[in-house]
Amino acid sequence: MQPHFYVTTPIYYINDVPHIGHAYTTIAADIMARYKRMNGYRVFLLTGTDEHGQKAEKAAQQQGIHPQELADTMVHRFTSLWKILNISYDGFIRTTEERHKKVVQYIFQKVYERGDIYLGTYEDWYCVPCESYFTEMQLKDGNCPDCGRKPERLKEESFFFKLSRYQKRLLYYLREYKDFVLPEVRYNEVESFVKGGLRDLSVSRTSFTWGIPVPVAAHHVVYVWFDALTNYLTGIGFLEDDEMFKTFWPCDAHLIGKDILRFHAIYWPSFLMSLEMEPPKRIFAHGWWTIEGQKMSKSLGNVIDPHEIVNTYGVDQFRFFLFREVPFGMDGDFSRSAIVHRINGDLANDFGNLVSRSVTMINKFLNGKIKRPDKKGGMDEYVEDHVKRLIQEYEKAMEVFSYHKALAVAFEVISLLNKYIDTEAPWKLSKEGNARLPTVLYNIWNSLRILACILYPFMPQKSKELWSALGIQKPMEKILFEDEKAFYYSDNLSLIERITPLFPRVEI
Ligand code: ME8
Repeated sequence: MQPHFYVTTPIYYINDVPHIGHAYTTIAADIMARYKRMNGYRVFLLTGTDEHGQKAEKAAQQQGIHPQELADTMVHRFTSLWKILNISYDGFIRTTEERHKKVVQYIFQKVYERGDIYLGTYEDWYCVPCESYFTEMQLKDGNCPDCGRKPERLKEESFFFKLSRYQKRLLYYLREYKDFVLPEVRYNEVESFVKGGLRDLSVSRTSFTWGIPVPVAAHHVVYVWFDALTNYLTGIGFLEDDEMFKTFWPCDAHLIGKDILRFHAIYWPSFLMSLEMEPPKRIFAHGWWTIEGQKMSKSLGNVIDPHEIVNTYGVDQFRFFLFREVPFGMDGDFSRSAIVHRINGDLANDFGNLVSRSVTMINKFLNGKIKRPDKKGGMDEYVEDHVKRLIQEYEKAMEVFSYHKALAVAFEVISLLNKYIDTEAPWKLSKEGNARLPTVLYNIWNSLRILACILYPFMPQKSKELWSALGIQKPMEKILFEDEKAFYYSDNLSLIERITPLFPRVEI
């Protein structure tokens, strides 16, 4: 049976335009989706928009429109950006869709019937932008511990989920599956939070109306996080398409920012346990981007618009930068000088030059014709063994979302190839009429071909350009890494005659 892989992004609030942070998680998910597809998996990449809640209601009010109208406009900002960024998503979910409303109400009802939801009153500090309640103790100098803004004192009748009932099971699950939450620092955070005790969670609101009505009390709307997390079920056909749902659940990886870890690693598995459904297999929480050393915020006016970055530097350059610059999982700083440095150094000098120099030599010395060699000599064996070992390292890194390591491996291949070229000196072999010339150039061609595969999840467009420059006809979307990583490959291929530089240098 074909293996399968289900990966998700958070669903994004529609009260704000998409920025670099949204792009980051979504590109990260796309990288994994492409990697798994090229490894023969049937993949489902789900993304979407989180359209209910007080934040959306307030934003719409300020514009004098209905929240649905706001959502209908804003959703295009996301889908059109995903197109520009080459996000190969398989499903897009909007929480205002009828199919989602059905699922949320069904699940609320089920959990209620199990006795895990009860009616009570809630009084606490509520942060509207974060849609979260906090106890006095949790506040930081009287402000929201997450965003630093002033919370409001709220008291309302509310349904509660018996989160406390799941503390032991959750702890047991965490200890059984040490890689349930990655990276490790986030796992530790979750574990100590659960150990500290879990309070029951308010899962409905009466103070506003923009949400899904609670099935057992229609004057309540379902708490936005209960509604939002459930998207991961709706998106793969829960209650609609049994075959698909059974194929993809439990989810292989929820990718999120560290800001929403508690919701995903504590609340979400507890809801699922109450439903007697399996928790997701893995939650990967990445770090936070600051901008030129500062927190990104509307008031500082430093929010990075991915459209502008793509227009200035190129889409694959942007995708590459995000994952080469900062280890995935850690915080990082976005600066223009850093992106220019990466483009001119890694991409233009190291990678781009290698490609144009190799293509030029193959054209000049062999009329662009590549033929599989039958004898090895010089550094050939060394290069082959080394590349094979690097492929294994790359695969190991990809499996645990170590994108930074995977890219470092690609650059090891690049410097190995540069060394090989300098040592074997094809221009000398050509002058001498040395019979090793086609072998050396074949090895260069072959390593570039493998490099194109390795880089494909990160830079799909540029890898495809390289791929066709190497004279390979089959579409890159259809490749199977298992076949491609073999060192000896097809015969008698013709390269394109001239390649335009893959990565033009950028002026600072
Ligand atoms: O939280 N650096 O939506 P949201 C890195 N609707 N990533 C960032 C970032 C930054 N500076 N800023 C935002 C929500 N992100 C909920 C999610 S899921 C069931 C519901 C990314 O629009 C990061 O992935 O506020 C974060 O988790 C997400 O945007 C939050 O998007």
